[in-house]
Amino acid sequence: MKTTILKGTVVSAPALGKLDITENGYLVAVDGIIQGVYETLPPQFAGCAVEDCGSDLILQSFADMHLHAPQYPMLGMGMDLPLLKWLDTYTFPTEAKFADTGLARQVYRQLAAELAKNGTTRVCMFSSLHREATLILMEELESAGITGYVGKVNMDRNGGVNLQETTEESIWETRRWLDECGDFPHIKPIITPRFTPSCTDELMKALGEIAGAQNLPIQSHLSENTGEIAWVSELHPECAQYWETYAKYGLWNSRTLMAHCVWSDERERRAIRDAGVWVVHCADSNQNILSGVAPIWVMLNEGVRVTLGSDIAGGDHLSMFDVAAASIRASKARSILDNWQTDFLTVAEGWYLATSAGAEFFGEKPGFAPGNPLHAIVLRDDALPAVRKLTARERFERCVYRRQEGALRAVWSAGRKIYAAE
Ligand code: GUN
Ligand code: FE
Repeated sequence: MKTTILKGTVVSAPALGKLDITENGYLVAVDGIIQGVYETLPPQFAGCAVEDCGSDLILQSFADMHLHAPQYPMLGMGMDLPLLKWLDTYTFPTEAKFADTGLARQVYRQLAAELAKNGTTRVCMFSSLHREATLILMEELESAGITGYVGKVNMDRNGGVNLQETTEESIWETRRWLDECGDFPHIKPIITPRFTPSCTDELMKALGEIAGAQNLPIQSHLSENTGEIAWVSELHPECAQYWETYAKYGLWNSRTLMAHCVWSDERERRAIRDAGVWVVHCADSNQNILSGVAPIWVMLNEGVRVTLGSDIAGGDHLSMFDVAAASIRASKARSILDNWQTDFLTVAEGWYLATSAGAEFFGEKPGFAPGNPLHAIVLRDDALPAVRKLTARERFERCVYRRQEGALRAVWSAGRKIYAAE
């Protein structure tokens, strides 16, 4: 039995908008599973080693629920183009390079290390359409201690010469990939039709059947950009709305993640909520590639399950602190555009979406709940100036927006310490 005890200022998000704060508290895990957060150490743990973090903040680590691994080398590029042009000009040519397994190894090793040192311990990630590179990505995430889902991307139309499979290849390679990736303990497969314009009906149908037969989750993109939506309605005149192009093939259920949903109207949002589909809000990307300002506060009010994603490289950074802050800012822009008829996200709400909301997709309970695997970060803020003693809540709120150099001291993922600052 291995006991882990972290002592410090423990802050967690047990519900949307709620923070639990325990100063000089103890976060205890046994064999990587959280037992509880305590003001005084329970007697059964007396004599166990305590990792004393002083007054550092001990927070939940992040869940990045939408990002594209092969786009990591193009971070910050092509940001003057809207989605469809950006895909053709920058994204597809970059992803095509991942036919090269040596490149994949090098890029994915660096990406996995950067995720760990940014405190992101759970991911739902798109690879490229290449089976071998996807297996390499899974290996690199696994060995860096990251947990979550990775998808081999499917695309049998509109990818251009170097980034397109035939329908048969796409189905065959997906089945082969699924056979080959069964043994990773923390990184699992997710069915990943890129988006409707990339996948024929025949491919969508096969992917729905595979997901159903092998009980796999699903990730894709939905209603990100108005040009994209118009294209989907041309491709699918039989569907009244974009979401139906997924629903008709069994790709629309309570284990489906849909990125963006910027332009989902009331009817589409109701379909999302009723099916228990998870929205992944990607605020940085929505702004960078000119997609729009998603009505996240409205979605939450309607009972839609919302999580957050960096969506690199539509998003320009991996830090989920910055993604949380960007989501809060985007919700304020939405409120202003709505003539103040809608509300915005508070810091505590933004934090919940960046941590607990995504963790729930993986079957965890919100916050540092007993029974959850230990996913935590230790954050130092003592070098930032203050004119008076700050409350723990004020320290936490400031750190969401602003952090001192080297603020992240340690990262725990599924009970293992995967990063420690020197
Ligand atoms: N829609 C289809 N592919 C992509 C992608 O790679 N990034 C974004 N942001 N949207 C997409
Ligand atoms: Fe995306």
